[in-house]
Amino acid sequence: MRVAVIGTGYVGLVTGSCLAEFGMYVTCVDIDKQKIDKLNRGEIPIYEPGLELIIEKNVKEERLKFTTDIDETIKNNLVVFIAVGTPPKDDGAADLTFVENVARKIAENLNGYKVVVDKSTVPVGTGQHVKKIIRNIAGDNKRFDVVSNPEFLREGAAVQDFMKPDRIVIGAESEEAVAIMKDVYSAHYLNEAPFVITNIETAEMIKYASNAFLALKITYINEIANLCDLAGADVHKVAKAMGMDGRISPKFLHPGPGYGGSCFPKDTQALAYISKEYGYDFNLINTTIKVNEQQKVKMVEKIAKLLGIDYKKKNAFENLTIGILGLSFKPNTDDMRESPSITIINEIISKNGKIKAFDPIAMDNAKKIFGNSIVYCEDEYSAVEGVDCLVILTEWNQFRKLDMQRIKDLMNRHYLADLRNIYEPEKMNKLGFKYTSVGRG
Ligand code: UGA
Repeated sequence: MRVAVIGTGYVGLVTGSCLAEFGMYVTCVDIDKQKIDKLNRGEIPIYEPGLELIIEKNVKEERLKFTTDIDETIKNNLVVFIAVGTPPKDDGAADLTFVENVARKIAENLNGYKVVVDKSTVPVGTGQHVKKIIRNIAGDNKRFDVVSNPEFLREGAAVQDFMKPDRIVIGAESEEAVAIMKDVYSAHYLNEAPFVITNIETAEMIKYASNAFLALKITYINEIANLCDLAGADVHKVAKAMGMDGRISPKFLHPGPGYGGSCFPKDTQALAYISKEYGYDFNLINTTIKVNEQQKVKMVEKIAKLLGIDYKKKNAFENLTIGILGLSFKPNTDDMRESPSITIINEIISKNGKIKAFDPIAMDNAKKIFGNSIVYCEDEYSAVEGVDCLVILTEWNQFRKLDMQRIKDLMNRHYLADLRNIYEPEKMNKLGFKYTSVGRG
């Protein structure tokens, strides 16, 4: 089976590499020559645990290659995955320019029956839109099918998620396309991963409904945590007991500074936009987006309260240095997109505070965002030297077992805002920290 993957961003690269690992012959295409050259030199443009090994192995075994030649790649493959970006526009709508460009290219190179698979997260109706573009250019006599096959990969765990999916969703209009897609995923089929076969629109909706629900679930536990803080309750115990109810499940009930990343913020915005387009006011999603933004700012208020300063004052953080551990939106990724750290750090800087920061992987990406407005440190310990308050923003494993006595000795004053709840409040208080976390009284 020969498969083309167009777009070597996060989704395309993981999909292409993992399909090759499952025995497919995969050609990954990108218009970005520099990126393709890099990949051909064995350099991986994103940080994703396990991916480098898979790419190296499959390139060596000649099941995986990278090229900029989109025309030839389309001609030579039966299945063509569209995995290009769909960035948000100013009004929250997904920008489909790249998807449309690829659809045109496919139409121009349609030299036989092909299955065109939409892997990018696209608004409901895009599959039909792609079909129309191809039909208009290729004419009535050419045979092809459009399929929606959304991905459910988490950054930092994408390889594992691809290998052992909870479900594989295939939205298609013909038996032939479904059979070919089952062939593409035959390894999963044999491993009895559940397949959900639907029409195209339903598959597109499943992706948005899933991501928006998870964003909503996180937002819900964040609000419960805020209330726990006021009421003297412990959100961890609340979440644990909630999760014991099989209908709720314990996953995605960890409170924190708000969700970020390239998916939840974009997909909730897009769902709100799609709803509006259909004349439906999706209140719950609109509120989730608003509350998540507020959560980030609430974290700055929390830090100010801990330090005993008036957050509302223009120069609230004047003469204070804050040490930040963790900048990426979550651990095991260098992705800074929509990371709560951006709002939180910018808010502190705007109120005249100074920032010293460290992240194990995301420093280079952080530099592109913060420039020289913050001090970048070599490790955890240099980031806390002389600071008034330490803020833990991302729960990297290496931050879970810090030498807290050493940390304390290095700090100027001993305020600790643990916004991922990775330390025990009692232990921290005993060590002499003035400690706060999210939702633990
Ligand atoms: C998310 C989904 O989990 C994937 O299933 C989906 O395929 C992907 O989006 C996508 O659409 O491509 P991802 O953005 O990589 O994956 O990251 P998550 O692990 O879901 O975390 C998202 C955000 O929620 C992070 O900021 C994380 O810190 C936050 N989060 C997550 C919480 O604050 N609490 C939780 O309990 C879980």
